[in-house]
Amino acid sequence: MDIRIEPIREEHIEGFHAALDSVARERLYLTMHEAPPLEETRKFHLGNIEKGVPAFVALDGDKVVGWCDATSSPRTALAHHATVGMGIIDGYRQQGIGTRLLSAVIESARAKGLHHLYLGVYRQNVLAQTLYKKLGFVETGVEPKFYQMPDGSYEDDIIMWLPLAVPDPSN
Ligand SMILES: CC(C)(COP(=O)(O)OP(=O)(O)OC[C@H]1O[C@@H](n2cnc3c(N)ncnc32)[C@H](O)[C@@H]1OP(=O)(O)O)[C@@H](O)C(=O)NCCC(=O)NCCS
Repeated sequence: MDIRIEPIREEHIEGFHAALDSVARERLYLTMHEAPPLEETRKFHLGNIEKGVPAFVALDGDKVVGWCDATSSPRTALAHHATVGMGIIDGYRQQGIGTRLLSAVIESARAKGLHHLYLGVYRQNVLAQTLYKKLGFVETGVEPKFYQMPDGSYEDDIIMWLPLAVPDPSN
């Protein structure tokens, strides 16, 4: 399978929205159980593209089959780090696409001068945690029963972070 990893552009937004909706509707991995309205998604991504937010899509031909981004808060005390979000649609997982997407985001975040990346992941999502650890993320804590699942049960939040080697401005 010839999968391309590219920075998200305006023409990918509709495909991104469909991919997000598909993963969200599985109700197993993401905190939203359907995608937000397309226009909201479009506005969000156009803003990100303008700001140079690290954000990549995986493409099978013209079809968006996965995404990974690292978004920062505009608040001054929080702007030095970013939170990672990602997903690959069913049928494309465990083929190295997540590794390629997250590697691209890490490289872009480092080049942008971000100091570290954060994420939260369901305890049961072992595959995602394996990927994050493989690329250097370290578990920093647990928020017990942070997520409520569709059947009413709870899932712990595993918090992970990746310090980035930021170039020293005095060198
Ligand atoms: C989690 C996810 C992003 C990982 O992406 P992926 O493309 O499936 O992962 P990769 O193929 O790059 O595999 C990454 C590593 O996971 C490990 N892995 C593969 N299969 C595994 C399995 N069944 N169980 C545990 N670890 C596994 C391997 O170590 C692999 O690296 P390696 O092949 O170099 O050894 C993807 O599966 C996904 O989108 N899942 C649903 C949505 C989701 O969980 N999003 C993240 C929410 S926090």
